[in-house]
Amino acid sequence: MGILEDPAWRAAIRRRLEIDLLLGVGYVPLKLTPAGGSGPSPATRWRQDRPSAVPAASGTASARPAPPARSGVRPEMVQAVTAEELQERMQALKALDENRVRVCRSCKLWETRTRTVFGQGHAAARLVFVGEGPGYEEDQQGLAFVGKAGQLLTRMIEAMGLSRDEVFICNVVKCRPPDNRTPAPDEIAACWPYLDEQLRIIRPEVIVALGKPAAQTLLRTQESIGRMRGHWFEYYTSGSPNVGPPTPLMPTYHPAYLLRSPAEKAKAWSDLKQVMARLGLPVPR
Ligand code: URA
Repeated sequence: MGILEDPAWRAAIRRRLEIDLLLGVGYVPLKLTPAGGSGPSPATRWRQDRPSAVPAASGTASARPAPPARSGVRPEMVQAVTAEELQERMQALKALDENRVRVCRSCKLWETRTRTVFGQGHAAARLVFVGEGPGYEEDQQGLAFVGKAGQLLTRMIEAMGLSRDEVFICNVVKCRPPDNRTPAPDEIAACWPYLDEQLRIIRPEVIVALGKPAAQTLLRTQESIGRMRGHWFEYYTSGSPNVGPPTPLMPTYHPAYLLRSPAEKAKAWSDLKQVMARLGLPVPR
């Protein structure tokens, strides 16, 4: 029996391909068999084959995941809102950023920040990622997730068949904690209204909490990320009077943790596949 007939090998290869996808490897090295030949020959060589690297999607046998989007916004990947509604949301986010976040001095982090990092993305995103807080690069540029962890997050988003422009990315705290330490409870409490307001404006269909501080803050719990990840929770905004229905929330590992512990990437990918299924995106088998 060839290895492709062996279910254990097939499962192992599939797992490997999915993790590669998450890592941003967009090709599979294939052994080429010469035309008419029946086995490997000295002419065997490696070939980069991008499309066939994407495993077939579940559902119909022929379905394939959407090709990973690198940029741009496809209307079907964001909420169907009117142009007016979109404009209102963009203005509300802008006002929140300019009038409240940028001038915020509610905790001591303002003293050491270079820039506030409001977050960026689509005002009608179906999916919002919430991280912990800006790091060095983010503090310098004023943009969320643009450092090494951000690059991995981009690959995770693209592996889901989405682009960064189609989602919204932000953090629990909007100013960099010195030396990238975990934000303190008083800093999280001071910044909390901004995140809550962002989520009330965007009203996403799903929230992904990246790492322990994000998951614990959004779910108001002390539970460990290892126990929460991979399970669905509900996020209730704290605001009133517009307290709508709760938003499904999936906790998963933070990309910075995944860079330190690559073996955990398979778990993060499995969490993201649950999110894709919830959003009706094609899920690799
Ligand atoms: N880590 C985070 O949690 N957020 C960022 O924006 C960057 C790194």
